[in-house]
Order: sequence, then C-alpha cells, then structure tokens
Amino acid sequence: MSRYFLFHSIGTFPGKAEQMSEALSRFSQIWSAEDDGQWPAALAERQAFIDAWRSVIGAPPGSVTTAENVTTALFSLVGGLPANRLRGKRLLVAADCFPSLHFLLAGIARRFDFVLDTVPFRPGEAWVRDEDFIAHWREDVGLALLTFVSSTTSHRVDVERLAAHGRAMGSVVGIDITQGVGVVPFSVAADTVDFVVSTSLKWLCGASGAGVLYVRPDLLMDCQPELRGWFSQENPFSWDLDKFHYAGDARRFDHGTPSILASVASLPGLNWVIARGVDAIRANNLEAAHKIIGHARDLGWKIASPVNDDERGGSVMLTLPSTVEPTAVISALRAEAIYCDARGSTMRLSPGAVTSESAVDELFTALEHIAPKGSSTRA
Ligand SMILES: Cc1ncc(COP(=O)(O)O)c(C=O)c1O
Repeated sequence: MSRYFLFHSIGTFPGKAEQMSEALSRFSQIWSAEDDGQWPAALAERQAFIDAWRSVIGAPPGSVTTAENVTTALFSLVGGLPANRLRGKRLLVAADCFPSLHFLLAGIARRFDFVLDTVPFRPGEAWVRDEDFIAHWREDVGLALLTFVSSTTSHRVDVERLAAHGRAMGSVVGIDITQGVGVVPFSVAADTVDFVVSTSLKWLCGASGAGVLYVRPDLLMDCQPELRGWFSQENPFSWDLDKFHYAGDARRFDHGTPSILASVASLPGLNWVIARGVDAIRANNLEAAHKIIGHARDLGWKIASPVNDDERGGSVMLTLPSTVEPTAVISALRAEAIYCDARGSTMRLSPGAVTSESAVDELFTALEHIAPKGSSTRA
C-alpha cells in the first residue's frame, strides 16, 4: 500500500508488477518459439483481452475490437459511419471532452462535412452541465460524443438521460468512458449508446496502447470503415485485390496486423478488476473520496469536482490556493512519497486499490505545511 493518487493517469493493483511480468514473459516464450504456433497463440491472447473488455462493459460477442488509443478508435468510427449520418449535420461535444478528441474532430470536420459544435462552460464553471448539453442537442445533431467522466473535474454525466435524448433526436450517441470504466459501473447491455471508445491504462490498470472500440451490432453492420486492411475481412488471407469484404462483426474496424503486446500487458489489470468487482472498487474509492472532501472543507479549499457521489467519477479535484505554485506543491508532496498531479491550479487526487487507508490523512498533514490553513483559494 502506498500514497498513490494517480489512478486518473495510470491505475495499479496489488501484484501488478509480478502479474504483468509473468504475462509478458510467457508471451516472449510464445513469440520466440521456433515453430508455427506464434500467431494462433498471439491472436488468442488478444481475443482474451477483448473478451475481458466485453465482460467489463456487458458487450455481446463480435462488438468490440482493439485500437491503439481513444483518438484512433474515434477516428475509425467516424470514418466508418454511413456518410449521411454526418454530412451537413452538427457533431456535438462538450467543452470538457478530452482535448485529443476535440483536436481530431476539429481537424476532420471539413472533410466529413460536419460542423463541430462545442457546448461551452457557464461562466466560472469547470464542467459542462447535462442540461446545457441537452439544450444544444436538436435533430440536426448527427453524432454526439459524451465524456462519461471528465479528466479535469471528474464530473460524471447522466448517461441514461443524455442517451435517451439522443435517441429522440435520431443521433448516433458515442461515449468516451476512459476515466470512469473500472471505478464506476457502466454497461452497454441496455443499448443506451451506439458506440464506446476507451483505453485500459487508468482504472482498469492496464498498459498504454490498449484502446478499444465498441459498436452496437446493428450500427456496426452499416459501417464501412475507411481505415481498413486485410484484417478488416472475415478471412485476412483473402488476398484477391478485387474481392475485399468487410467482416460481419467488429473486426471490420481492424486494418493491418494488430498489436498484441498491449493486450497481453493489460489483461492482468482487467482480470483483477473483474475479480474484485467494480462495486467493491467504488466503495473503497468513495471512502477515500469522502475523506478528501472533508479535509478540503476543513482547509477551506474549493472542491473542483461535484460533491454528489452520483455526479462524480473516481477522482476529486481541488483548487489550490493562489498563494502556492502548483508545481512546487506537487514536488513537495513527491519528496514525501505522495503522488498526485495538477493541471494549472487544479490538483487531481485519484485514490484506488493500492492507496493506503492513512494516505489521505498523510496527504493533508503534508498540505497543511505546504499551504497553511487560511491560504485563499484561487478564483
Ligand atoms: C477522458 C479521456 N479520454 C481519453 C484519454 C486518452 O486518449 P488517447 O488514448 O487518445 O490518448 C484520456 C487520458 O487521460 C482521458 O482522460
């Protein structure tokens, strides 16, 4: 157990180093064997990762595949949608989406002929309210991209409510679940959303490079991903140049030779989350989150996350006092083996399975020295 509060960046679990080493070393043996069993074994490892992901989000067989990261998963999806879902329409996103996805969408808007509409913050607020997102969401929205949990405030959207509105508007509804999956229950089983993009290295405790894309099976059959290749086919060894055919499931979003290593390195984390159960992980996380909120109130610091548990993901963000330099605070904490980070004056605290029970108290004892009580919070 440690004083680790960085699950919003890299998640970890007891025994991670040993289990990842064991998985990678077993894979090294398979990959280096001087026989012809490498690819069947490697593809089975990747499939085990996909199946673990399906189990985490309740997705049916054939609806999930891998991507390098969230940004590429979104690009594959957008490039696969029937053109009439986007052409001449608005693509709705909130100002607190993950910036990488906004960079991508802004860059491809012209080519796919959609207007990127970004729902703004209210003055002085740090997350976009669900009601404001809904107010912008009319029938000319071809696609809406939700962010399950924001990486800067931990604000959690009401997926049911937003998706129900999206269905009424006839939009494709997608969601980036990167910051919530593994610490807050999430499921696609009720067909609430049309697609999901995510990666595995945060609360799911995996490695980087282990992105995923889920597409609702009936939408999937209408998609013809422009990023395609031999692995998009039912049979990758069908090499007749005039006979390309998309696979009948999520494999159509594959393209060239798939990456295997990220799946191998991530599976122990996913299996740990599945075995422990998201409800138990959440209960443990909430205990620490409540302590953080209590201490922050005692110090008179502004809490930059929703205080209602149902509107928050796994992190609690605090606004640092204007009298302290954020990087200096993070360094001073690091010197005491307390690990967290800051985006501007927003300090991000994400307690998880390896964060000791006493870590929150120790963090605040340290903070009381670094930024004594009475320091005023930044506006
Ligand atoms: C909400 C959210 N989405 C996406 C990402 C990562 O996107 P990518 O995998 O494209 O780097 C992060 C990383 O912090 C995130 O917090």
